[in-house]
Amino acid sequence: MEEQIYQMPRIGDTAPDFEAKTTHGPLNFSEYNKGSWVILFSHPADFTPVCTTEMSGFATRSDEFKALNTKLIGLSIDSIHAHVAWVNNVKKNSGVLFNFPIIADIDMKVSKLYGMLQPNESETATVRAVFIIDPTGKVRLIMYYPLNVGRNMDEIIRTLKALQTSDKHAVALPLNWVPGEKVIVPPPKTVDEMEEREKSDYEMMDFYLAKKDL
Ligand code: BEZ
Repeated sequence: MEEQIYQMPRIGDTAPDFEAKTTHGPLNFSEYNKGSWVILFSHPADFTPVCTTEMSGFATRSDEFKALNTKLIGLSIDSIHAHVAWVNNVKKNSGVLFNFPIIADIDMKVSKLYGMLQPNESETATVRAVFIIDPTGKVRLIMYYPLNVGRNMDEIIRTLKALQTSDKHAVALPLNWVPGEKVIVPPPKTVDEMEEREKSDYEMMDFYLAKKDL
């Protein structure tokens, strides 16, 4: 097994650029990423049950992603013909259109670039990877699921909103945070800031764990 297969971008890295054939035509990733967040995700194979539920989940919530300035792009090691036939099949059967590009990664180029092949799970099918990439092209969040467990769309959207909230307000988000709940104010970096904090109206367990409403 080539060493490259084991490599994967890490949080904070620049998302590796690539050109690919997709169901929406040829695509250059960095062009696609320009000015918006991107969620790049892989599924093991077309015409398989869990994958069909997941892709339908992304498609039915595509308006929410759009409202969050986020583009979707799927991937599997299948041909364009298989992708198009699957898109057509699901639309006919359920009325759901996979309305985002799906990469036909037959040569495994993108799968290897993003460490989506985990050889002890499968040497030929990508695991269920999710890369959330910001508009500057940085990888901000990574999820990996095995072949037999579907992802949670609420969690994908929650983490996307958490990243955007953190960037906008310079705050951190606690366990199980959802929009509308209090956020964590970063700990003080100086004694003056600590004393200032004691006079604040933050909800505080102690000076290092303070929460506020946005
Ligand atoms: C599925 O999507 O159902 C699936 C795909 C590959 C292996 C196992 C399950």
